[in-house]
Amino acid sequence: MSWSPESWKTKKIAQDVAYDDPLEVAAAVDALRVLPPLVTSWEIDRLRGFLGDAQAGTRFLLQGGDCAETMSDCRAEVIVDQLKILLQMSLVLIHGGRKPIVRIGRFAGQYAKPRSSPIETRGDLSLPSYFGDLVNRPAFTAQARRADPRLMVDAYHHSALTLNFIRSLSAGGFADLHHPEAWDLAFLRHAALDPDLRASYERTCRQLGEALGFMEALGEVTVDQLTRVDFFTSHEGLNLHYESAQTRHVPRREGHWDLTAHLPWIGERTRALDGAHVEFFRGIRNPIGVKLGPKVEPAEVVALLERLNPDDERGRMVLITRMGASQVEKALPPMIEAVQRSGRTALWVSDPMHGNGITTAGGIKTRSFDDVLGEVERTFDVHAACGTILGGVHFELTGADVTECIGGASGVREEDLGLNYASACDPRLNYAQAMEMAFRISRRMAKTRRNSRPPRAVG
Ligand code: PEP
Ligand code: CO
Repeated sequence: MSWSPESWKTKKIAQDVAYDDPLEVAAAVDALRVLPPLVTSWEIDRLRGFLGDAQAGTRFLLQGGDCAETMSDCRAEVIVDQLKILLQMSLVLIHGGRKPIVRIGRFAGQYAKPRSSPIETRGDLSLPSYFGDLVNRPAFTAQARRADPRLMVDAYHHSALTLNFIRSLSAGGFADLHHPEAWDLAFLRHAALDPDLRASYERTCRQLGEALGFMEALGEVTVDQLTRVDFFTSHEGLNLHYESAQTRHVPRREGHWDLTAHLPWIGERTRALDGAHVEFFRGIRNPIGVKLGPKVEPAEVVALLERLNPDDERGRMVLITRMGASQVEKALPPMIEAVQRSGRTALWVSDPMHGNGITTAGGIKTRSFDDVLGEVERTFDVHAACGTILGGVHFELTGADVTECIGGASGVREEDLGLNYASACDPRLNYAQAMEMAFRISRRMAKTRRNSRPPRAVG
């Protein structure tokens, strides 16, 4: 089974883009081939090591960001908000789990979207669906919806701009965001919040503030060094023209590296064993994610691991389950057990967003905070019962005050969805909902930690 960065072209391409001019595609791919990489192989190796630790339970993965990044949102305040929410959530998670958090953004390349239908109809007019800014434009006109290969190059440039700013912020100038006293936690005062939870969140914030203050008072190490802010990048590796154009050899290293992101993943709609995406991903050296919905056969999960990670390399495979709150207890255990029986290893991560979509009577796509939290909690339970480790969580979220998901203490109601619905695709948790989610998961991690501590010797 020989492999090349182009061998995917011999396979069936799910969600293939109907470009109308192959010469234009070739020109865009040629341009991308010579542009410098967005990430490096040694950063990718570092992430692989961290993911291996998360697999073993000594780190925890927090992956999050937009469902669909847009080029018009490639702006300072949007990027800062995204980093801020991931950073603040990660500090809350460190507090509960007492282990380092690996932060991975769905950013700097999350521009291609799979769609359930290739065509969208409004009234009498049918046009190609919007497949993300890497492919076409959201406006409902024939011109905007034409698949334009040059957008791949634009998406690359916007990814580079985003990443450049992220790298600068991570290297400094970001420290104030470490301080819980500067966080916007107004939602904690909301009447709908259970008093016991409120007390626990406030305690967490106080303790975090005290711990950070204490470390700063020591003076020898800055908080910045202690909580060294690393952000890795990830996106769905959907458009294989784009991915393979940036896939290359690296001097003095073996193999091919997809240098568009540290962690590309295969989506639920493109993970066919004999399809183009699995073919492409099996040949790259990056760690890779695979989304798994409730319909995947347990034997298929094992077959995917065999195909994508034949040597069972540590930190290579991230299995991102997105079952739906009502399915997880039924669908997840057989998958975990099949993997256990096969003797293969992977990092298990919960994406509690994509199995919990609902549409309101008015036709708005939303998700309920309780369903999202319910899926995470049940996924923790299932792994505990199976003797496996849930090593991370994956969210669609934003640091802005959008009204896209309903529920949570700050109480976005169905009738509020129109107030600030800004997502280009799926509904995201807003700042307050994402923070509350982090507090809930952190509490859960703290409880597990306390319960698993060996009993003290008596007498
Ligand atoms: C996504 O992560 O935005 C997505 C489309 O997910 P899935 O492939 O799990 O449906
Ligand atoms: Co989505």
